[in-house]
Order: sequence, then C-alpha cells, then structure tokens
Amino acid sequence: QDTTRLKQYEGHELAAKLYHYLLNNTTHGQTAKSYLRSRGMSDRLIDEFSIGFAPDSWDTLTRFLQSREFDLELMEKGGLLSAKNDGSGYVDRFRNRIMFPIRNREGKVCGFGGRVMDDSQPKYLNSPESSLFAKSRIFYNFHASRPVIRKTRRAVLFEGYMDVIKAWSAGVKNGLATMGTALTEEHAAILQRHIDEAVFCYDGDDAGQAAILKSIPILEKAGLKVSVAMLPKGMDPDECITKLGPERFIRETMEHPVSATKFKLLYLRKDHTLLGEENRKNYVMDALGIVAQLESSTEREVYLKELSREFEISLESLKADCHRLVTEQQ
Ligand code: UTP
Ligand code: MN
Ligand code: MN
Ligand code: MN
Ligand code: MN
Repeated sequence: QDTTRLKQYEGHELAAKLYHYLLNNTTHGQTAKSYLRSRGMSDRLIDEFSIGFAPDSWDTLTRFLQSREFDLELMEKGGLLSAKNDGSGYVDRFRNRIMFPIRNREGKVCGFGGRVMDDSQPKYLNSPESSLFAKSRIFYNFHASRPVIRKTRRAVLFEGYMDVIKAWSAGVKNGLATMGTALTEEHAAILQRHIDEAVFCYDGDDAGQAAILKSIPILEKAGLKVSVAMLPKGMDPDECITKLGPERFIRETMEHPVSATKFKLLYLRKDHTLLGEENRKNYVMDALGIVAQLESSTEREVYLKELSREFEISLESLKADCHRLVTEQQ
C-alpha cells in the first residue's frame, strides 16, 4: 500500500539523519568517527555518503520513531526495528555499528548496511528483504553515480561499501556494489538498460576472483561488454587506494582493465602448473576452449597468437584445433 510504503521510506530517511547526527555530535559517535578516520574517511566523504552511527543501545531509534508516532510494527516490517522475543514490543535492529544508508534508484533511503568496529560477526549487518529493499535488484550508489553512468555508458562493479566510497574519492564516480550477494540476472537486466560496459573491480582474493568468473556470463548474456580491473594479489580496492594512493590505483588498476576472455585465461592458470609438456598441453587445450567461445574470428586470433608465442606452438595448429572446437559447439 502506498501510505505504508511512504511511512517506511520516511522512517528510513529519519533514521539515516539520526544516525548521521549521532556520529557527528555525541561522545559515543567519536569512537565511530575515529574508526572511520583510521580507515581514511574524511568528513566530506562521511557527509557525501550520509554515513552514521547506531549507538550501543536497544531503544535509541525505537524511542525516536515512537515519539514521532510511527507505527512500530510497520518499522519492524521495513527492517529498522526487531520484534522482542516475548512479543512485548520492539528494539533497535542496528546497535553499535557504523551505518551506511542504501538508496534506491530514486535516491530514497531504503535500507542500511551496518559495520561493527571490531572483529565480531557478522561484520556487516544488512537490512532484511522487504518491500522496500530487494537485494537482488539494488545497487549501492546507483543514484549518485547515475549521471556519470548515463554519460559514459559504463559502470564499475565493486564488492563492498568501502570500496565504492574510496574509489569515489579517488575519482571513480560510476562505482556500484551489490549488497553482499551475488550478482543476479535482475541486476544484469537493470544494468543493461543503462550501460554498454561493466568493469569488475572485485577483491583480489580467491573469493573475489571466483565471483567475477561466475558473474561474467550473467552480464554477457544480458548483452554487456565485460572487462576486469585486476588488483594486486590479496588486496581489495579500499586497501589498494590506502596503500598505493588514489593516483596509482587509477593509473595501475582502473585504466587498464583486461577483457573478460583475458581474465578467464589468467584464472585458468590457477588450476594449472605450467611446468612440463603434459601440463602445458593441458593448459593450452583448456585455453582453446575459452577462446573458441568468442564469436569473432579476429578476436580469437588475437588470443591464439598470444598462446602461440608463449607456448611455441604454430598458429596454424592452434587455429585448426580452435576451429574444431567452434564447430563442435555449434
Ligand atoms: P568483504 O568481506 O570484502 O568486506 O565483503 P569489505 O567490503 O572489504 O569490508 P571492510 O573493508 O572490511 O569494511 C564485501 C561485501 O560483502 C558484504 C558487504 O556488502 C561487504 O561490503 N558483506 C560482507 C555482508 O553483507 N556481510 C558480511 O558479514 C560481510
Ligand atoms: Mn553532515
Ligand atoms: Mn571480499
Ligand atoms: Mn573486501
Ligand atoms: Mn575492505
């Protein structure tokens, strides 16, 4: 219902304002502020992304909403509050966490990601699924990046909130992130309406690289060109920007994405030792399987030439084997 949703959006907007106020104006907020500082977040960034702080309390937001005569049951359904186990009322869902408001495509706050400031679990608590907040459809930062996305027809996909924010401060104004979930076909369908090319910039760890591999076909099926900005091993974009500085991050990572095919070929090396004839031959055969998936024979030739050079196999042999795989696939 419309009035219900409007109230829930209003609750979210007020909660975001409250959390932001508490971060900037309370002593407990100072701890959170120091944490953000230690992670390289300026006041300006904190403002731009409306970052806030949910205090270590059961009823700060609950009482705030109650005093403004919000229907608490409705706020619980919207994901801001939790119902008490004994059914006697409601408590704050987010406690003692740094709060990242998540806006929908119209710019309305529709959910939160809340981060702990130590090693406790879960590291991020996100809003639950609700009629406002559907993880399979929402991108963090879509609203703010929309003008640049529209102009460039390109978006950069990150894993996390911090990555999007730090990259933004480094000049990447078309960065998005999914909400701690895998990229879905629904995500791809939304992207397809706004961009021609997606650039993955996921974490440089095994999980991040595996997630890219899984997501490439989802985007390609939606007709998008896909490339991958590779990070130094084990680093995520946020760490990379902190360690290397924004200029080097842009110059060494963002400005030289590799093609989806190149990424698959690099990834393939993880499962192959390239020592010895047998291993090298196996790698080349698997690599040919990847190259054979390309529609354009010109494109195929680019990669075949590389393989030919590296493995000292004639281009003719590689072309013949690749051609066989292409016809087998049809
Ligand atoms: P990461 O574990 O890579 O976290 O998860 P991060 O973004 O680098 O976070 P920092 O730098 O430690 O603060 C990537 C994303 O997965 C989601 C979040 O959206 C996170 O940004 N996630 C992760 C969760 O939703 N819950 C978790 O417990 C962990
Ligand atoms: Mn402010
Ligand atoms: Mn990660
Ligand atoms: Mn990460
Ligand atoms: Mn990180």
